[in-house]
Amino acid sequence: MSFFSGSSTPAAPASAGAEVPRHVAIVMDGNGRWARKRFMPRVFGHKAGMETVMNVIADCQRRGISFLTLYAFSSENWKRPEEEVSGLMNLVLVGVSKYLMRLAEQGVRIKVMGERSAVSPKVREAWNEAERVTANNTGLTLTVAFNYGGRWDVVQACRQAMADGLTADQLTEEALSARMALSHAPDPDLFIRTGGEIRISNFLLWQIAYAEFHFTDCLWPDFDVAEMDKALAAFARRDRRFGGVKTEASGPAV
Ligand code: FPP
Repeated sequence: MSFFSGSSTPAAPASAGAEVPRHVAIVMDGNGRWARKRFMPRVFGHKAGMETVMNVIADCQRRGISFLTLYAFSSENWKRPEEEVSGLMNLVLVGVSKYLMRLAEQGVRIKVMGERSAVSPKVREAWNEAERVTANNTGLTLTVAFNYGGRWDVVQACRQAMADGLTADQLTEEALSARMALSHAPDPDLFIRTGGEIRISNFLLWQIAYAEFHFTDCLWPDFDVAEMDKALAAFARRDRRFGGVKTEASGPAV
């Protein structure tokens, strides 16, 4: 169960009114095209994307963002060429051995969400280790979505609710939220997608009900501080009402 699950209004974000989003979720698209532009294999783009991940984590920490959730491997990504899939799996192993200690020292708490049983024991153990080593950290919470799909998440939460013996009446939004893979975090305030596509691609379907969206043509390996500035500036301009209306009494729109 999550410490957020006690909320009676799961859709109400914790960071209402804040200019810096509390939780940023990113679809990191464009690695393949970035590599192709350089006449390199797609995995080269994913490696560069990993460097960007490290830079973005540090940038989020500097800015006071508390939760960062990254779409690293979707349930659908198994359809990619075998060479690319194994390259991505290998990148997890290399990434954990190369960066885990640095992230741990930075105070990052790592969580991994997705269907773990389908990945190899080596990759599973790398993710388990990352979570174990950083479990007591209190800085940025980095959630890596790996073999994750938003529909899978809804189904697994329903299954868990059934296994817990909930009746139809007991299956409330709160009860389901508490069983979703991202129950350790408040709902994302800002959803960013790089790479020029304007779609969700089965990421966080339940949790983005009130997220603000920012789509950029920037390819993920090129995403830098200036790009994050643009995303956060766009977020700060949004008039967030969460289905309500702006009134005199309520002051600035939230
Ligand atoms: C989508 O770009 C990107 C991915 C499917 C992989 C994302 C992985 C990383 C950024 C590496 C970091 C990994 C971890 C484990 C944190 P694409 O390949 O679809 O790009 P394209 O649309 O240009 O082909």
